[in-house]
Amino acid sequence: MLTRKDFPPGFRFGVATAAYQIEGSSFGGAGPCHWDSFAATPGNTAGGSDGSRACDHYHRWPGDLDLVRDGNFDSYRFSTSWARVMPDGVNVHPEGLDFYDRLVDGMVARGIAPVLTLYHWDLPSALSLQGGWCHRDIAERFADYACAVMARLGDRIEMTATLNEPWCIAWLSHFLGKHAPGLRDIRATAHASHYCLLAHATALQALRADGHGNLGIVLNFETAHPASRSTADMAAAARRDAIYNRWFLDAVTGAGYPALALDGLGPHMPAGWQDDMALIAAPLDWLGVNYYTRSILRGSDELWPSFKFVPGPLPKTGIGWEIRPEGLTEFLLRAAAAAPHLPLYVTENGMAGLESQKCGIVDDTTRQGFIRDHLQAALDAIKAGVDLRGFYQWSLLDNYEWALGYGPRFGLVHVDYTTQIRTPKVSYHMLREALSR
Ligand code: NOJ
Repeated sequence: MLTRKDFPPGFRFGVATAAYQIEGSSFGGAGPCHWDSFAATPGNTAGGSDGSRACDHYHRWPGDLDLVRDGNFDSYRFSTSWARVMPDGVNVHPEGLDFYDRLVDGMVARGIAPVLTLYHWDLPSALSLQGGWCHRDIAERFADYACAVMARLGDRIEMTATLNEPWCIAWLSHFLGKHAPGLRDIRATAHASHYCLLAHATALQALRADGHGNLGIVLNFETAHPASRSTADMAAAARRDAIYNRWFLDAVTGAGYPALALDGLGPHMPAGWQDDMALIAAPLDWLGVNYYTRSILRGSDELWPSFKFVPGPLPKTGIGWEIRPEGLTEFLLRAAAAAPHLPLYVTENGMAGLESQKCGIVDDTTRQGFIRDHLQAALDAIKAGVDLRGFYQWSLLDNYEWALGYGPRFGLVHVDYTTQIRTPKVSYHMLREALSR
């Protein structure tokens, strides 16, 4: 097993979570968010589950931060819930910010470097009802929220991301309908794909004006392999790559939107979108890379983007995602080529297991190998010259896996959702040991 000493001095090892997935959105006077109504709509989430209680982190955060410290992690990536900070989407609710103030103080007291994500998908319902990410006004609303959070927490935050995984915000939620708000509408997708980046950039500008630094964005990447060397399959993989891996990376690094994605989205884009591209390409201080798996694409006769997914032969996680560590090296190299001067972080990597707790032990053998191989893949990228500064495991705790509910377990720590008892898995102990040396 690799240890801390195999990585460059100062390399940050961390764990990541997100507010809606762990806190319990019904506690502490948080306002409703679009995930509450999405989950309350029959058929959208496994068993109708939602994040109203989740891991009860809202009350159990001191013990959860102890787990971060005791695992020898240097840093904790968490998110603030917009609906907790601004229940109506606009006005600050002091109790919401008080919670995060305590949480950040708790990290500092334990010697854990706080890394903040401002938006990890819990859009206040009030804003969702006004059009959410499909409406241009969201950019100013998001900047106001970002500044309110950072005015309170910014003095102790080490790094801040505006958005988590804009592909999920735009495409998974507005084209595929699998996440809130559950739309399947190409026009909404085009608008959300652009306005979430405009919101990122508007917040970046406002935060810099307020004197905040070390600002970045977290993008998700998934290898797109063609099912065969046929022209149709190769083109399908290239379209998927443009939509998934290139749209956001190209835009924030100044290369504009990829033509292969504009082929479909172009006619549906908001008028004058080109005028926003310079702002969207405003310099970042760092870039976050989330990586989990790959997909295999076959061309199809269906409407654009005209591809379908083919099952692959590699070993799979508990939710069927293929395990392919070398994809992480490939994307780190690709991100480094697109943004040559930016420090990179692996802001999420992990796997879903279906493991259970037996006599106080949770033996997650597959995850142990997964972690080892992906840390090695990160090291391979460093050896190839990538300026990678840290690696965050997804996730500290088993938690609410969005539409898939509470079945998939991504945690290093097992959570019994009835008793809320936390049991560190063998992978947690493995990492604790590796990080002690
Ligand atoms: C990425 C997302 O940021 C996170 O919320 C999710 O739980 C993991 N992927 C696993 O699907």
